[in-house]
Amino acid sequence: MTSPRDTQHVMQFQRQAQLDEKVALLRRSLNEASHVPGYFYASQEIYELEKELIFMRDWLPIAREEEFPEVGDFRTYRILDEPIVVTRNQQRQLQAFANRCAHRGVAVAQGNGNAHEFECPYHGWLYDLDGKLIGAPYMDQADGFDKSSCRLKPIHLGTWQGWVFVSFAVDPIAFKDHIAPYEKEFGFLNQGQLKLADKLVVEVNCNWKFPVENLMDNYHSRILHRKTIGPTMGVERFKGVRSGALAFTAYYPAKPMNREGKTLFGIMPGVKDHEGMDETFAVSAHVAPWMHLFARCDNVHPFIMEPLGVGRVRITCFQLFPEEWQQQADFREKLAHYNEFTLAVVNEDASVMESLHDACTSPRYEPGRMARLELGVWNLINYNVDRVLGLGETRLYE
Ligand code: FES
Ligand SMILES: [Fe+2]
Repeated sequence: MTSPRDTQHVMQFQRQAQLDEKVALLRRSLNEASHVPGYFYASQEIYELEKELIFMRDWLPIAREEEFPEVGDFRTYRILDEPIVVTRNQQRQLQAFANRCAHRGVAVAQGNGNAHEFECPYHGWLYDLDGKLIGAPYMDQADGFDKSSCRLKPIHLGTWQGWVFVSFAVDPIAFKDHIAPYEKEFGFLNQGQLKLADKLVVEVNCNWKFPVENLMDNYHSRILHRKTIGPTMGVERFKGVRSGALAFTAYYPAKPMNREGKTLFGIMPGVKDHEGMDETFAVSAHVAPWMHLFARCDNVHPFIMEPLGVGRVRITCFQLFPEEWQQQADFREKLAHYNEFTLAVVNEDASVMESLHDACTSPRYEPGRMARLELGVWNLINYNVDRVLGLGETRLYE
């Protein structure tokens, strides 16, 4: 929580940005628009506004259900400096809590593992897998202390097609309403039948928005990726560029994600019957605020871009394949082909991200004009600027 003085400073910063004429250049139609001033990526104030106005309000995908196979399995996360723990309770339901003891706030769970309960390492307050306080040494001597009034603070949790989402909001939009458009558009991928085979993690010294925008920037694909995916990608058919959660969806022909450019498995059983499905199938879609879904005929490999500070991001690629393929004796060997190629593409992207951020830290950086092919990027930047400037979430861009 920022101090009142900090909050005042951030609000003042927000008001100044609302009046910035250079921001107005972003608001023009795409044919006339320019990129947004550098402080949107490099300033601590914008980062704090994003935390409160985006990340503390939205549903955030963070994990896969299969990462918690057993009762008591838990994982800890730190999301924009908010520590949380996700665990599977005795009824096999996934639960999320603030990872802060109800006594003085010490983290009660560390790392990942399996537990019957969580004991705070400081004074030993004990919590069950539902976050209820079940032990508090010496607290029977505290007048009127009622254990049942204390617990780990619950965080909203929802699951969709194997994905685990959390929301810090006190009263978030109902998860089923949030997820309905994604289910309608991408339910056919049957991600619930897929299992996590690997996570590829790369950390980059840049603002989190650069890789999010980059994944819907098809202006760079044939240039920066000329040694990998560039030559294999066909012309996109935009399904839609819309406001809000479904900011960008594109279907296009491309090859499976390995150097051979051929599937090593076949077509995923769950999508076989999808109209027009063949080895050239590819979809790319933004899932606000920090996920980008990619699929080919033989795997789904969404990315999550997690801010680690104003100038650092952790990019995690979740490699999902049908469970039955993962039983094959040579699965790990084949997977290595997909991992190597996917990482090569990620590293090509990462190679320009630090430079983008570096430019934005300079007051002498002048943002340039946008290209037609930056349609998705233009739409998303406008949407995010609306949110951090507190201008609502209802504008439509296309
Ligand atoms: S801070 Fe956890 S028991 Fe005191
Ligand atoms: Fe790229």
